[in-house]
Amino acid sequence: MSESLPRRAILELPDVLISQIAAGEVIERPASVVRELVDNALDAGASHISLRLLGGGIRLISVEDDGSGIPVEELPIALKRHATSKINSLKDLESVATMGFRGEALAAVNSVSEMSLLSRTAEAPNAFILDGQTGEIKPAARAVGTTVEVKELFFSTPARRHFLKSESTELAHCVEAVRRHALARPEVSFSIWHEGKIVAQWRSHPGESGWNQRLADVLGEDFVTDSVHIDFQSGPVHVRGRAGTPDAARARADQQFAYVNGRFVRDKVITHGARSAYEDVLHGQRQPVYVLYVQMDPTRVDVNVHPTKIEVRFRDSREVHQAMRHAIESALAVPRAQRLASGEASPFMSAGQTATPNSFLSATPSAPPSQSTWSQRGMAFSPDRASEDPAKAMAELKALWGSSNQIEETAPNPSGFTQSTDLSNSASHQSHAADHEWPLGRAIAQLQGVYILAENSQGLIVVDMHAAHERIVYERLKQQLDSTQITSQPLLIPASFAATPQEITTAENCAEVLSQLGLEVSTLSTKTLAVRAVPTSLAKGDPVELARSVLAELALHDAATVVQRAQNEILATMACHGAVRANRKLTLDEMNALLRQMEFTERSDQCNHGRPTWRQVSMRELDALFLRGR
Ligand SMILES: Nc1ncnc2c1ncn2[C@@H]1O[C@H](COP(=O)(O)OP(=O)(O)O)[C@@H](O)[C@H]1O
Ligand SMILES: [Mg+2]
Repeated sequence: MSESLPRRAILELPDVLISQIAAGEVIERPASVVRELVDNALDAGASHISLRLLGGGIRLISVEDDGSGIPVEELPIALKRHATSKINSLKDLESVATMGFRGEALAAVNSVSEMSLLSRTAEAPNAFILDGQTGEIKPAARAVGTTVEVKELFFSTPARRHFLKSESTELAHCVEAVRRHALARPEVSFSIWHEGKIVAQWRSHPGESGWNQRLADVLGEDFVTDSVHIDFQSGPVHVRGRAGTPDAARARADQQFAYVNGRFVRDKVITHGARSAYEDVLHGQRQPVYVLYVQMDPTRVDVNVHPTKIEVRFRDSREVHQAMRHAIESALAVPRAQRLASGEASPFMSAGQTATPNSFLSATPSAPPSQSTWSQRGMAFSPDRASEDPAKAMAELKALWGSSNQIEETAPNPSGFTQSTDLSNSASHQSHAADHEWPLGRAIAQLQGVYILAENSQGLIVVDMHAAHERIVYERLKQQLDSTQITSQPLLIPASFAATPQEITTAENCAEVLSQLGLEVSTLSTKTLAVRAVPTSLAKGDPVELARSVLAELALHDAATVVQRAQNEILATMACHGAVRANRKLTLDEMNALLRQMEFTERSDQCNHGRPTWRQVSMRELDALFLRGR
């Protein structure tokens, strides 16, 4: 028998120790204190919040607000564990709209620091200050509002203090905590001081138009100019905010801000939904940037999952995933040339005024804008609407594949490229209408068989012609083949494999989706699955491996996403073969045709691999090259 410690009697823990244990969950570092105190200030209705720090917040954190204040008789209660003015019942909890509700932050902070609470309500003749250590209350001077001072964090718990990083690192975390709040509340002004010097200051920007201004203040103007406006309703989920263009993506995921009902969250469903919207347009491992606000009925989301409330649980995570994905995807689909042409020149206008019409966004996200939408935007011609007939699409694809020189022929020919030749004719006489300004300009030359050079009012446009055409073919194929199924090929000998219970459940629940993907998987026994058919195009691969990975994807994501992704991969390969190769001479009309197609093709700013298809070189940049003062 192993030696055991002598048994100790069961005793209730002392209050302070309980708080210190609880503090371990909520208060990890100075930035956690900052987050909790700013939460409280916002809940108190503050419109100005200032944060003063010493020693990266380790020596002092002071948060001052002009909120409602705390009545003197409630000051001692505020420091008690599980004492809150924000909820009173389970029903309140289920629909909580404030940042706080657990009533544990002040108690936790007080147990691991030297804390004081200075506060005054509008009714009180003066302020009062409570010493968190002694419980002593004294009259003091202060305008209406509250100042919470937290000194010597973790002085009583040296083990914790040991884990803190350098002052500058802790300061950076504190600033980040306030940034998260600031992005969510443009109507509130924030200032941050460190060692007596101002570190950041964000003026208040009330009203709808304040959002973009606040985003620019906090994340830089580039964030706003290189992002698209999002306002998308999908069932009970409303997604708003801005998502960066693929060009604005970064090496690290450090500019991804997501809020659920005003609260900053780190959530897998949201992050994955957003990332999947970029699948088709982002190059390699680049990380998208976004600030997105998800709004939904509070009863559809549980915020009481984690003490710091940074995690949430959705009642229906699929609906949130889809809303995120579609919101971003549809906004990004509009080519930049279109956005510029339709007047989103200055993103610093109110959300309601933005150029991307909400009606378009909320209607059918993946469908191209209707002709009437274009004419509403003052565009003179209708986009090249691809044929809806899949058979014709396949014929076109074959024609593209089989003919590497068709693009050189300007005379009408019966091949799939006729469509664009038609367009080139219309484009050429359109371009004679001198006063019409095409976003991507008028073609002037072809460079080294690789680039198309065009001229617009801002200067020079350089287009990577293969990359651009590849996207155009790809998007057209996607549209045309959307409704058709992937053909499947039965296996002579079904491939059986030992499956996990989850794989079996997924196979049974998703039989229909699997067949859409060209897969037939049936249950042999409670532990065995058999693959009976695979997509024709993948007949040479390992059927079991294929089935396994598709089942895994299906278990994780919604079926539509999986089907679409599988299809897209096949189409992208096809498109690459179909697109015009380098070193092919194009006529001006053909170049113009390509430019016009780009203007109206969704996602045409990036090739299928996420690389840019065109760049603008402004007159200013050209002038700078020649040291020309303008
Ligand atoms: N800055 C403040 N202004 C007004 N009241 C405050 C402020 N900070 C804290 N309080 C009051 O103290 C209570 C306890 O705060 P806290 O421990 O953070 O719990 P919670 O925020 O979850 O209610 C709050 O419910 C609120 O009534
Ligand atoms: Mg709180």
